[in-house]
Amino acid sequence: MADAATAVKADSRLIIPLDLPTVAEARAIVATLGDAVSFYKVGLELFATGGMDFARELKGQGKQVFLDWKLHDIGTTVERSAAVLAGSGCDFLTVHGEPQVMTSAVKGRGASNLKVLAVTVLTSLSDADLVEMGYAESAKSLVERRIRQALEAGCDGVIASPHEAALAREIGGKDFLVVTPGVRPDWSAKNDQARAATPADALRAGASHIVCGRPITAAEDPKAAAGRVIAEMAGL
Ligand code: C5P
Repeated sequence: MADAATAVKADSRLIIPLDLPTVAEARAIVATLGDAVSFYKVGLELFATGGMDFARELKGQGKQVFLDWKLHDIGTTVERSAAVLAGSGCDFLTVHGEPQVMTSAVKGRGASNLKVLAVTVLTSLSDADLVEMGYAESAKSLVERRIRQALEAGCDGVIASPHEAALAREIGGKDFLVVTPGVRPDWSAKNDQARAATPADALRAGASHIVCGRPITAAEDPKAAAGRVIAEMAGL
């Protein structure tokens, strides 16, 4: 009889972050997950050590790739960087949610398939942090302002905590991408995700995609853990 874990069919709404210090470790987890996972996020840690070449390698394997670069620079630099990254054939790119940055990234990716996603306000920032940085607005209000600005700039979506997903969906409409980290199944450790939501709750709130890492990558059997998350997503 086929092992249930080997029969898992990937759900492209599930994105696995490859938050690992070496390409060798990232390659190993991708091999372990096999056909159970089709979408990976490559972030700054891995970019610093060959991650961009690895992103191209993943594309070569037919995977979808989310480049979590969080671009934030002068317009010309963002535009030119987005144009180069669009040439990689990757699927998602993050930029900080400031109007000039977002508009430049959208211009740079041009007619390519690269979707530009705005990071509204980093969830590590409190209202007090924003005051210290010179903002006269609460995090909640700034998140809402930036979702609207992302839409106006032509971004394809935003990164949103599960608690912001409903607002992003309401403002952005049905085709807006709402990509939600901070996702923890009931059965897994919360790690440092203080206000986590389950995969099903995140999707119900309006997420188009969920980012779920350590519950799967640090599990004893990552493929089986991915299967449990995918089953929960399918059961909605
Ligand atoms: O392992 P875990 O599921 O916590 O990974 C979550 C991923 O989402 C990490 O790559 C983390 O950097 C990213 N992220 C997050 N919270 C945010 C924005 C991004 O956890 N607000």
